[in-house]
Amino acid sequence: MTILESDRLQLRPPVPEDAPFFTEALSDYEVARQLASPPHPYTEADAKTFIEIVTKARAMGEGWVYTILTRATGTPVGCCGVHIKDGRYELGYWIAKPYWGRGFATEAAHRLLAFAFGVVQADAVEAGWFHDNPASGRVLARLGFEADHVESWPSKARGEMVLCNRAMLTRARFGRKKAA
Ligand SMILES: CC(C)(COP(=O)(O)OP(=O)(O)OC[C@H]1O[C@@H](n2cnc3c(N)ncnc32)[C@H](O)[C@@H]1OP(=O)(O)O)[C@@H](O)C(=O)NCCC(=O)NCCS
Repeated sequence: MTILESDRLQLRPPVPEDAPFFTEALSDYEVARQLASPPHPYTEADAKTFIEIVTKARAMGEGWVYTILTRATGTPVGCCGVHIKDGRYELGYWIAKPYWGRGFATEAAHRLLAFAFGVVQADAVEAGWFHDNPASGRVLARLGFEADHVESWPSKARGEMVLCNRAMLTRARFGRKKAA
């Protein structure tokens, strides 16, 4: 399934034309510091490479990354994805700062999880949030994720390991949870 839709959002695979949006959003240190992979500063070349990588991963059946847009205006507001890491499914997401606090992360991740459990047939999806990112912890809790343990994860933007709360959501629990 190439395009996913929810009440307010459309999720579609990233295209090269998304590179300027990715670059501007991820150039914000407040966004990049809460993620593992994006470097800081973040360049358009980084965005293009990322889009190439996730396009290949989708073709290989190893990852399903989406640009998040508003359905009303087609404005890009963020990115989310599930990819296979060490044989397990890992959820990630970010929303560009001007669009924080509108429920977009929760809504987009909920739609993506329905796809991951229903179409990709994941039995469980894992995620993590850095110790100083309570907003993401709240998003995951609302989606039904249960905290599991704490471990150190790298943050390229911070240039150091950061304490990360790890959490998991099973398909059974997702099915029992009412939509966010
Ligand atoms: C974390 C992030 C994805 C949230 O996006 P968003 O669209 O604003 O999230 P939502 O509006 O769906 O939900 C945010 C929730 O966090 C809560 N929240 C926001 N700031 C908070 C804070 N400082 N402490 C506790 N909760 C907070 C909100 O009240 C909301 O919960 P509620 O719906 O129960 O009221 C966004 O801030 C972001 O992209 N941050 C940088 C990248 C990142 O952290 N990605 C996730 C990596 S794990």
